[in-house]
This record gives sequence, C-alpha cells and structure tokens, in this order.
Amino acid sequence: MGLLRARAGFAAGEARPDLPEKTADPHDIHAAIILFGSPGSGKGTQAKLLGQCLAGPHISTGDMLREHISAGDEIGKEAQRLTKAGKLVPDEMVNALVKQRLAAADCEPGVILDGYPRTVNQAKVLLGLMESDGFKPSVLHLVVDYEKIVARLSGRRQCPVCGTLYSLTTSPPKVAGICDRDGAALVTREDDREEVIRERLHEYDVQTVPILNFFKESGVPLFEVNAGDATPDQVKRRVWERLMEAGVLPATAGSR
Ligand code: AP5
Ligand code: MG
Repeated sequence: MGLLRARAGFAAGEARPDLPEKTADPHDIHAAIILFGSPGSGKGTQAKLLGQCLAGPHISTGDMLREHISAGDEIGKEAQRLTKAGKLVPDEMVNALVKQRLAAADCEPGVILDGYPRTVNQAKVLLGLMESDGFKPSVLHLVVDYEKIVARLSGRRQCPVCGTLYSLTTSPPKVAGICDRDGAALVTREDDREEVIRERLHEYDVQTVPILNFFKESGVPLFEVNAGDATPDQVKRRVWERLMEAGVLPATAGSR
C-alpha cells in the first residue's frame, strides 16, 4: 500500500528545497494532506514546495477547472462563468473530478489536495473517498489576514506552461512578465481583480470556513500554520515541522 516517499533529484537549475531528499525507511502512510485556507493564503505555493519532496501528486481543483476552461468544454464553460464572478462551482462537478483523479495510479503514495474540499458537502464526500481508498487525511490550515490577501492576489502572476507562481512584490520573475524557467509569457488570472477577490473571500467565509468544525467533529487531524508573516520557504518549514511532529510525515524524513 501507500508510501509517501520523497522524490529523488530536481530539475537542473531548480532551487533545492531545504527539505530531505528521501526518506530513510519505507512507511505505509498513504497520507492525504489537505491544504486549507482562504484565496491567496498560499495553498498552491506550499503544494508546489511540498510536491518537490513528496511522491504523491498535487491535486488542485482550481487548476483542473482552469484546464477545462482552456479546453473550452462543457465543464469549462460552466466553470468560467462562475469563477469569473468569484462563485464556487457546483459540488457535483468538483466531487466527480476529484473522485476520478484520486483513482489514478499516481495517487497510490499519497496526495496533496489544494482547494478541495470547499463546502461541507464536499468534505463529506472526500472523507468517504478517503475511507474507501485507505487514505489518511490531515488538514493544514494556512492562516493569513485578509488585508494581505488583496495585495498578494493583485500581484500574482503564473506561468501557463510550468505553473510556477510569482509575486510582483515578494518573488518577481528575473525579467518582467517572463517565466524564469521556460521563458513563457506570464499570465494574470481572470479572478484576481479586486472585486472578484472580495467575492471569493465572502464565499470562503460562508461556504468553506464551516468545514473546519466538520473536520474537528470528524476527528480529522487539523494543524494551523501562520502563513501571513513569513516567506514561502519559511512557511514551508513550519508546515514540514508540524507534519513531522504529528507523525503525518515519517520522523526519519529528516530533521534539517
Ligand atoms: P483556486 O484556484 O483554488 O483559488 P483559491 O482557493 O481562491 O486560491 P488561490 O489559488 O487564489 O490562492 P492560493 O491559496 O493557491 O495562493 P497562491 O499560492 O497562489 O480556485 C479558483 C476558483 O475555482 C474558485 O474561486 C472557485 O470558483 C473554483 N473552485 C476551485 N475549487 C473548487 C471547489 N472545490 N469547489 C467549488 N469551486 C471550486 O499565492 C497567492 C500569491 O501570494 C502568489 O502570488 C504567491 O506568490 C504569493 N505568496 C504565496 N505565499 C506567500 C508568502 N508566504 N508571502 C508572500 N507572498 C506569498
Ligand atoms: Mg491556488
């Protein structure tokens, strides 16, 4: 069964994370790390950093929906209409996407979930899937003051080819508008306009925050990490330490 194992090796020129290269021993973990937090709290950033060291895939429902939007299919058309307005897409749509994704063979070692679940209904469906597939879920709540969110998201740029995230204020590309890794022109998300960001935060407060209570009542381990007063690398270290202390990641995964 599952093994949450660190990846060996990084692409040439890629910043080496200050995290272990591989675990010393095999561990039957099959962990599902649920990155939870408001829009702009750094879920995607942390998922990518953790993903450099963990074998399981990074599953972002936002990225999946944007792929459908780019493809222009039926799911994409519905998703575009709602995401542009800062609204959540219907539960049935994302539940079906996640169910199908979790069944793929690359999820066997464990998964990093980003942006899912986002309603209590989605959380219930997810826990059912976790139980039937034998995953061990843990929730990592990235906490950031809302005042910082609008500034963060207004300055976000992303590479449409490799997915690297930039911040015009804290981690800008070396050449304005160009991805450091592959030279592609960076894009601004359609939902990163201020009025849409405010609607997304409202949706988060009303629909997503109640999940925290549901998880607590369901006995799912829940960890809070302050993600608003530190660089992404510092937040990553906090995240890693919390997961190690709690045994979500094996103690042998390294203490550096
Ligand atoms: P989604 O793509 O999931 O967006 P989100 O949850 O609103 O979150 P973001 O991607 O905006 O932020 P993030 O937390 O990933 O932060 P990031 O790392 O990029 O969803 C988009 C839409 O799709 C939703 O609104 C909804 O319509 C729909 N949808 C998706 N999933 C759904 C679901 N399950 N159910 C229903 N609808 C769904 O960081 C943000 C910026 O800050 C970046 O520029 C980054 O470089 C910077 N940054 C990151 N960390 C730091 C730091 N420590 N210090 C300074 N800057 C930082
Ligand atoms: Mg994201």
